[in-house]
Amino acid sequence: MRIIISGGTVVTASDIVKADVLVEGGIVTAIAQQIAPDDHEIVNAAGCYIFPGGIDPHTHLDMPFGGTVTADDFRTGTIAAAFGGTTTVIDFALHSKGDTLRNAVATWHAKADGKAVIDYAFHVMVGDMRPEVMEEIPLIVEEEGITSFKVFMAYKNNLQVDDETLFRVLRMASQVGALVQVHAENGDVIEVLVREALAKGQFEPKYHALTRPKEAEGEATARAIRLAEIAGAPLYVVHVTCAEAADAISDARKRGLPIYGETCPQYLVCDETDYERPDFEGAKYVMSPPLRAKYHQEVLWGKLKNMELQAFGSDQCSFNLKGQKELGRHDFSKIPNGSPTIEDRMAILYHFGVHSGKIGLNQFVALTSANPAKLFGLYPRKGTIAVGADADLVVWDPQVQRTISATTHHMNVDNNIFEGMTVMGKPRYVFLRGHKIVDGDQFLGKPGMGKFQRCERFAPFPL
Ligand code: URP
Ligand code: ZN
Ligand code: ZN
Ligand code: ZN
Repeated sequence: MRIIISGGTVVTASDIVKADVLVEGGIVTAIAQQIAPDDHEIVNAAGCYIFPGGIDPHTHLDMPFGGTVTADDFRTGTIAAAFGGTTTVIDFALHSKGDTLRNAVATWHAKADGKAVIDYAFHVMVGDMRPEVMEEIPLIVEEEGITSFKVFMAYKNNLQVDDETLFRVLRMASQVGALVQVHAENGDVIEVLVREALAKGQFEPKYHALTRPKEAEGEATARAIRLAEIAGAPLYVVHVTCAEAADAISDARKRGLPIYGETCPQYLVCDETDYERPDFEGAKYVMSPPLRAKYHQEVLWGKLKNMELQAFGSDQCSFNLKGQKELGRHDFSKIPNGSPTIEDRMAILYHFGVHSGKIGLNQFVALTSANPAKLFGLYPRKGTIAVGADADLVVWDPQVQRTISATTHHMNVDNNIFEGMTVMGKPRYVFLRGHKIVDGDQFLGKPGMGKFQRCERFAPFPL
């Protein structure tokens, strides 16, 4: 396995250089203006960018949620990810109430091992934070190589934790070098609004958004940040959708706090009017937090441009319209929350961001790969193109145009929220540790090729 990727433009979070890349034994062994071939396989990257493989820091594969199980598992989800240029996912191992964290992790290994076609790491999504669960956190960090934990300020009577618990988790996590992630929405307020809506006979998908206002996200985000500040802990806010939440993150960062924000493709190109689509099609867009008014898209683009939001995750959580989203046909609160986004995450940011001139190439790499690697302890083995790093590489052809559709995507689900969007840019080749796993429209990888990645403890890289 000796490969020269020849004639492309290498892009990392900091550099853009025309160079050849030499890959040997699954790692990058040289980057130089011209590398003379002997017995190497030559990969033609003329006219293409060479990006570090995407790292999707937010996926839910094979996850029981909302009374059903997500439509994509570790095989179909990671194949779709690979076609989109992603070579590592960090999936959420769901810890159920009453269970141990260790069991949750073992369950997730059983789901992923032997199935994933790209590399994977885990966060733990904590279902209840009993004292004995909290005490398990140091063991999970030390023994399992899992260094981030998601807690919920929403989904009342289910996953939601109170402020005392959130504060204790933040303190515990920071002591052992872990990073806490929050789903920041005020679940108490949302619960009242949902009950009132249902009592008034408001059952359609659009009421999902109307009962989860942006202020509930802004409030929870600001509260989580203050709790982290008191605890002296870093904090990562997942799926930021609106000005209220993004501004709270910007303010905290201006005060020098290690607070990080992630947004997702859906919040940049879909908006609250999508809930009004007829024939229950609005259910495709039911996710939490919900899509917002168009104005927030511009706010989020501005924050990405200024790197006031640091990471770009898909929040992949796919459900079929038929048989799954339909569970909430007559009650929006029963529609399973989430959408299929793992495949088009990089394409959406490339087309609407880079191609449209809103962000630069280095920012694209920082958001889709380098920053997730830094925040979750995978850098510099992953997240960059450098001598000694894993040869997770995407040869990205910026001239190819395609139209996104559920009829052609690789996800195992009957809908795509980006349906009909035409985008420039598509992987010509994708390499996982030197193995060519995607060649145009052909998949060359195999289930089980993906390897579990242990994450290092949180380190405050300047982002
Ligand atoms: O609606 C969403 N986002 N579903 C996935 C679970 C979560 O809260 O991230
Ligand atoms: Zn969430
Ligand atoms: Zn999620
Ligand atoms: Zn090979």
